[in-house]
Formats: sequence, structure tokens, C-alpha cells
Amino acid sequence: MPDEQRPQRRGAARPSAVVSAVAQLADECATRLGRPLEVLDLGGGTGGVAVPLAEAGHRVVVVDPSPDALAALARRAREAGISERVRGVQGDGDSLDAVLAGHEVDLACCHGTLEFVDDPEATLRAIAAALAPGGMLSLLVSGRLAVVFAKALAGEFAQARSALTDPSGRWGSTDPLPRRFDLEEVESLLTRTGFTTVHTRGLAILGHLVPDSLIDSDSDRAALAELDELLVAGEGREFLRTLGSGLHVIARRD
Ligand SMILES: C[S@@+](CC[C@H](N)C(=O)[O-])C[C@H]1O[C@@H](n2cnc3c(N)ncnc32)[C@H](O)[C@@H]1O
Repeated sequence: MPDEQRPQRRGAARPSAVVSAVAQLADECATRLGRPLEVLDLGGGTGGVAVPLAEAGHRVVVVDPSPDALAALARRAREAGISERVRGVQGDGDSLDAVLAGHEVDLACCHGTLEFVDDPEATLRAIAAALAPGGMLSLLVSGRLAVVFAKALAGEFAQARSALTDPSGRWGSTDPLPRRFDLEEVESLLTRTGFTTVHTRGLAILGHLVPDSLIDSDSDRAALAELDELLVAGEGREFLRTLGSGLHVIARRD
């Protein structure tokens, strides 16, 4: 996983923040439906989200093209004793029809994956088709503006400019990420593909700008995370979400 996908290493956007948000969303959906959920995790990798969801009693199918990730997922699921509730299938957005065989899911996760697919709009349409009407999507993508700020503050002005002006938000030809997103672009993609955005959040707004050398302890990490929360909580400052190195969007399938 590229560093840009690991904001926790910079100290502020704990991956657990997204996992907790998804766990809470799953809880709410399960309470509403009165049963455990059927969940799809597209690009779910080694199961960072799938395993905790299965531990909470939900059934999760992880669709991912990487055999290595799926092997690690199977190992983790076995170790956690929840193999019967986690199914790993090698594939991508085009495989969803065949994998789900007409069964709709209640919740779909797509975290750190839309950056890598050939056609994000087609992938979101495939996810929408896999979801039951009213089903929920948790989408996490890398934010473009975050890398513009990070590169500029590191004195990499040409890379900052490239990230800002390149249609895919890449800072150069050696950028490990094929694509980054603006929040508006994500919301518009979701609207076009049959979703209504319910909640958006920027992760690691300040956190990813602070050099690692200045973060000494867990309490530093916690203080930065709290600063990020406070920053966007203030009236009139919601727009700062768009500076998150991760953009986390919860949306409902229309
Ligand atoms: C950055 S990792 C994210 C893993 C996991 N979702 C997480 O948040 O930790 C990206 C994942 O997307 C998968 N991937 C790459 N191309 C894909 C595609 N076209 N369709 C679905 N998944 C893809 C990779 O194999 C990898 O597991």
C-alpha cells in the first residue's frame, strides 16, 4: 500500500477512525433491518475492514484482484475464528454480478480502491447495482489537495503544481497512486451513479502535513487527530474537509 494510503504514519488519521465509522454504520443498518448485514468490500485487501465486520456478526465478501491480499485475508479470518463469515474472491468491479449471483448486499465498502480502477464511474455503477435500494456505501479515496499542500510544504513546487493541475491529481510519473480525487468530484460521481451523499469527512487534514520527526508519542498522535476533528467542527470551516489526505464519504443507494 502506498504511503499516501497510510495517513496514520503521519500521525493523525488513525485507520481505526474509518473502521470505527464503518462499524457504527453497520450497527445502525443492522438495527434498522433487524439482522446481520450482507457486506461487499471491493478492494478489501487483507481484511482490515472485513475482519472486524465479520467479528461483529456480519457476512462479508471481499472482491480483490490480488491473490496475496486474499491469502492474507483468509489467514486473518482463520486466526480470528470467523472464516465462515468471510469470503474472498479474486476479481474487480466487473466480477460483482457473477460473485453475488443476484444477491443484493446491504453495505458496500470501497476503501483506497477507486484510485486504482480503470473507470471509477463504472466501478461505482457496479457497486450501486450490487446494493439493495437504500443500501449504504462507505467510500474512502485519497484527496488531491492534501498532496498539493504536502508537496509545496516540502519544497517540491513542481510536483505540487502537477498534483493540482493534472486531471488525475498525480504529482509526477513516479507517483505510486494512479489517481486522486477532489471532494466535489466524488460527490458528483456518486450522484451520477445512483447515490445520495449522507456524510463526508476529511481524514488527516493537518496530520499528514506534520513531519514524522515532530510526532513523538501516541499522545501527539491523539492531539493531532483531535485538532483535525476540531478544525472541521467549527462553524463555517466544513470546507476544510476537502483538504483531508483521505476523503471518507458515506452515501445511500437511491
Ligand atoms: C490501497 S489497498 C486498500 C486495501 C483496503 N481496502 C484498505 O483500505 O486497507 C488497494 C486495494 O485495491 C485492490 N485493487 C487494485 N485494483 C483493483 C480493482 N481494479 N478492483 C478492485 N480492487 C482493486 C488492491 O489489490 C488492494 O487490495
